[in-house]
Amino acid sequence: MMAPMLNWVEVRADALTHNLGAFRARLGERVRLGAVVKSNAYGHGMLEVARIAAQAGADWLCVNNLDEASALRTAGFREPILVMGYVPLDGLEESVARDVRVVTYNLGTLDGLERAGARFAKPVPVHLKVETGTHRQGIAERDLATFLERIEVSPHLTLEGLTTHFANIEDSTDHSFAEAQIAAFGRAQDTVASVLGSRAPLRHAACSAAALLFNRTHLDLARIGISLYGMWPSRETLVSCRERGRELLELRPALSWKTRIAQVKEVSEGSYVGYGCTYRTTRDSRIAVLPVGYFEGYDRRLSSVAHVLVHGRRAPVRGRVCMNMCMVDVTDVPAAAVEDVVVLLGR
Ligand SMILES: Cc1ncc(COP(=O)(O)O)c(C=O)c1O
Repeated sequence: MMAPMLNWVEVRADALTHNLGAFRARLGERVRLGAVVKSNAYGHGMLEVARIAAQAGADWLCVNNLDEASALRTAGFREPILVMGYVPLDGLEESVARDVRVVTYNLGTLDGLERAGARFAKPVPVHLKVETGTHRQGIAERDLATFLERIEVSPHLTLEGLTTHFANIEDSTDHSFAEAQIAAFGRAQDTVASVLGSRAPLRHAACSAAALLFNRTHLDLARIGISLYGMWPSRETLVSCRERGRELLELRPALSWKTRIAQVKEVSEGSYVGYGCTYRTTRDSRIAVLPVGYFEGYDRRLSSVAHVLVHGRRAPVRGRVCMNMCMVDVTDVPAAAVEDVVVLLGR
């Protein structure tokens, strides 16, 4: 028998499907939609989200590393998979064996992919990532031609994708930096055209914020992460969309995190709550103890800051979040009782 759960997350498939559909409509039929399911689908469960996203029409699945890509293949996913993070040289054979696309920005990786292609006697589609200002992964503008020429002379390599990533598209309502990155990416496309002629690769740059804000970032494939899960990338993105008169997508948060009350106690005015005596009651209070602390992922910085929902009403966290417990004030929620469900995140 499974032990009863003290805290759990619920993920709404209908919310994920709705959000994906909203992006599908925003992108139009021609632009491919890559569901970013890396890092356990932002905590929502990678295999479950990938299944829902694929059913709802995601064309690509985007992950961070080869382990995630392999887990998707093992689970039977046939969609193209893009690994956006680093694949070490000794992982390249597996990536080719499993038909996983590797975002590439080192010549050594290109050579390793070519060797793997030769070993398995199959073509290897490559995605080159170009540096446009984020100064994370990426090929410098001056080096791009060298990479393209290396692909040209490698019998098993083909350029399938050309990609970049925005540095400052959701943190500001001033999009001049993003505009400069769009321009730099345009120059990279020109370089590709000058080497490859009409054999144009898939161009992809957009994350959620870019897809929401600028149609011209949609290009051939958009990589949608945070907003697939129902969140606006930032307040600035929402404000910018409003300012630009963009139709606001209705996004539905998919995840909620819940626990249940372990104890309710009467605490008289002037009493301390929790370690360090950091909170002192200002009235006679009812305090509920929740079996969730920072070990379970309830951040210690939420001490005396966050609220939870009990019977749909906000109850403030009082005192320090402990390792496996925290305390909330339910004085204003008279119905609160032991074993009642509490919403830590969500509605
Ligand atoms: C390269 C790349 N593309 C796309 C995304 C998705 O971004 P977002 O979650 O803002 O949609 C990420 C997320 O970190 C990323 O690293």
